[in-house]
Amino acid sequence: MAHFQTDTNYYLNPAAPGRFEGQVPDLPVEGEVPHHLKGAFFRIQPDPLFPRMTEEDVYFNGDGLLARFDFDNGQVRFTQRYVETDKLKLEKAAGRALFGRYRNPLTDDASVEGKIRGTGNTNPFVHGGTLYALKEDSPAIVMDPWTLETKGYTDFGGRMKGQTFSAHPKIDPVTGNMVSFGYGSSGPLTTDCTYMEVSPQGELLKEVWFKAPYYCMMHDFGVTQDYVIFPIAPMVSSWERLQANKPHFGFDKTLPVYLGVMPRQGDAKDIRWFKAPNQNACHVFNAWNEGTKIFFDVPVSRGNGLHFFPDLDGSPFNPMEALALPTRWIVDYASTGDEFKKVTRLSSMGGEFPRIDDRFQTFRHHHAWWLVADPSKPFTKGCGPGFANIGYKNMTNGYESVWWAGEEYHLQEPCFVPRSKDAPEGDGYLIVLADNLVANLTELVILDALAVEKGPVARVKLPFRLRSGLHGNWVDASQMPAA
Ligand SMILES: [Fe+2]
Repeated sequence: MAHFQTDTNYYLNPAAPGRFEGQVPDLPVEGEVPHHLKGAFFRIQPDPLFPRMTEEDVYFNGDGLLARFDFDNGQVRFTQRYVETDKLKLEKAAGRALFGRYRNPLTDDASVEGKIRGTGNTNPFVHGGTLYALKEDSPAIVMDPWTLETKGYTDFGGRMKGQTFSAHPKIDPVTGNMVSFGYGSSGPLTTDCTYMEVSPQGELLKEVWFKAPYYCMMHDFGVTQDYVIFPIAPMVSSWERLQANKPHFGFDKTLPVYLGVMPRQGDAKDIRWFKAPNQNACHVFNAWNEGTKIFFDVPVSRGNGLHFFPDLDGSPFNPMEALALPTRWIVDYASTGDEFKKVTRLSSMGGEFPRIDDRFQTFRHHHAWWLVADPSKPFTKGCGPGFANIGYKNMTNGYESVWWAGEEYHLQEPCFVPRSKDAPEGDGYLIVLADNLVANLTELVILDALAVEKGPVARVKLPFRLRSGLHGNWVDASQMPAA
């Protein structure tokens, strides 16, 4: 009989799938939602529609379940709908799961061999009025931003030759281009990568092919006005792992970290690979350059940060080595050596899911927020310790503050919302989904972005729990296409 596995935490409460599509027209609010906020907050969660067909899997192997919170005049409306990937359509037709473990095609039903395995479950991203559902192992999926209807995969009119499109593109505020990359670009586990730029009109302007030093989870990257930066951290894989039915990725303590730097006007031959000792990094705050000097802010952990992708050498997961600390890596494209020029720890508040005021991407940023894990805070049994805090740092004067949501809560990635389109950097709000793991309900919490320690100005209450999501983005009403 089909069932969600009981031998893993990833499909049990509080991580049990929601499998819910629908709309809630006017969510109850505690406090007051700023009336001038008019726009949409898109967010997405991995949420398998069908019970899994494998014995074990990682948390984020789930179909993309896309949600939009509409803000208007102090009211908030919620709409949620599945991303109808090729995968999900095949499974719906069969009435059961056909695709097996996370990024392991060897575990699939024979009937779906060669089909695109993407789930579109990582990041809903709006560029040039187009909503994309993104996942790094497959092409971008075009969605209708209003109905959340799936239009399908895009190869940008045949111009994109690579097979993958990152879930973490950036928008260059000067050109308006969406700057992105792909890895595993000529097939799973290949070291082929691409760097791409897409115009606001949706035209793929360039696709530069290059090779990574080794295959790894290239989850995020950095974009400056003049360079793109590809971090290579040793979360690796191999066909042997997949044949042995191990999780796709594992952490290799023997490999160095590389930072690949390519001039945006350059080509593969222009990439310089800077090298650092073994460590781990995943998401990126931001990057910028001053001449040939490149600044790259990223949470960095000494060891493996993801317990579900175990160390290759079999050593047990080490929570202290897993804690990522905000760090600045500096390299100089014009330098003669291949070592990092400087490494600076930016904060002792460990955590992940870093965000800035996205209007300032590619330029030096002055404000940063991230989810903080603080093991010294109490937590209700079964709830943690996890991401129960929001950390803030003023990068100009060093001021730091933190808001603790409480011992029953787990927080999801924060998203900065400017007070108005032309507000100064950092002047606005932080939207955070807060899961009360005891009540089994999710709230959308609104904080003053520069005074997070004061706690929420509003709590928008959903009548159910959302599964822990991956990423979300705010889109001002003026940037939404006509319905
Ligand atoms: Fe991510």
